[in-house]
Amino acid sequence: MTQSLAKRVEQIAPFQVMAVMARAKQLQAQGEDVIHLEVGEPDFVAPKAVNDAGQAAIANAQTGYTAATGLPELRQAISDFYQTRYQVDVAPERIIVTPGASGALILLSSLMADVGSEVLMPDPCYPCNRNFLTQVGAQARMLDCSANPDFAIDLDTLAQQWQAHTTGLWLASPANPTGSVLSKEYVAKAWQIVQQQGGHLLVDEIYQGLVFEGEDFTALSVSEDIFVVNSFSKYFAMTGWRLGWIVVPEWAVEGATKLAQNLFISAPSIAQYAALKAFDQDVLAECEARRQTLASRRATLIAGIERLGLPVAASPQGAFYIYVDVSSLTDDAMQWSLDLLEQEFVALTPGADFGQRDAHKYVRFAYTCDDARIEEALQRIERFIAA
Ligand SMILES: Cc1ncc(COP(=O)(O)O)c(C=O)c1O
Repeated sequence: MTQSLAKRVEQIAPFQVMAVMARAKQLQAQGEDVIHLEVGEPDFVAPKAVNDAGQAAIANAQTGYTAATGLPELRQAISDFYQTRYQVDVAPERIIVTPGASGALILLSSLMADVGSEVLMPDPCYPCNRNFLTQVGAQARMLDCSANPDFAIDLDTLAQQWQAHTTGLWLASPANPTGSVLSKEYVAKAWQIVQQQGGHLLVDEIYQGLVFEGEDFTALSVSEDIFVVNSFSKYFAMTGWRLGWIVVPEWAVEGATKLAQNLFISAPSIAQYAALKAFDQDVLAECEARRQTLASRRATLIAGIERLGLPVAASPQGAFYIYVDVSSLTDDAMQWSLDLLEQEFVALTPGADFGQRDAHKYVRFAYTCDDARIEEALQRIERFIAA
């Protein structure tokens, strides 16, 4: 008898961007000067104070499991951060520290979605979301947002989308891949509709703090019954430390704790001790300086994309992404990206991974390298288009 994998594995699509990334790595290994605008990770390293604290944790042998919900002092520090930065009271008991936002989303999928249920989300959105739901026997239904401003779900028709087995709505702000930022009014209206349907609202705030236009707020200021996901990966540039958190409503703490215990036992202890330093004033000042660096890169890239005559498909108010419509140049953004890489050694992410509707029209630029490299990439793209 031959062994086989679980059927659900077939339902999980591999990432198409991997083809671009694999080829980019290959070309680089051959000595080509590849400009990486495809990865969701800027060229920043974790702040020094954070790295030092991680090393101290190892030196002090603070390497055992922590409480499943996280170090109490870290949950308190996150709670304080919500208070000082966003003027929102979030009891530390409602904060659960997780292995990245990924761990948070895995936990919340188990917590909120029954087998056979569905969760609504915008098309395009972060690709892993739908796979997390598949993992628990639920599914994502992506709502076509191609004609809507900033690819946001049309709230006037949201209630009509709700079916008997719809259990919730997942949003993100700032969003990946568009960089668009939702307004507080939008989140409040979405919450009102979701609440009327008896569903849950999850807002992924992993790019919180990386806002260049619009309001940097938390959905927790709208209601403490909204589920919020966050992470140390982006604003704090701690991607490899694998640390994130969720904020859950009071009534869900017990269930979420049970899942945290079973799924992860605890988030990495060394990372948690390191993250205690993330909220120090000098570290926050460094993160703010980086936000300003990103703002400058963003301006360079937007100006360059306009020069190329390509429409930016959504207002890129936050995160570090710009979603660009290349349909005037190609009807296959995936192939276009591969050709660009082959000929000019610029790596972008094709839209295909993020959604189903019209994804072939778009590419995502991530402004993850410095202004000079971005300018160089733009010149290469110009040459590629002209060729
Ligand atoms: C919208 C969104 N959510 C969640 C994640 C997962 O992040 P991490 O697990 O590194 O915290 C990412 C990563 O890029 C993302 O873009």
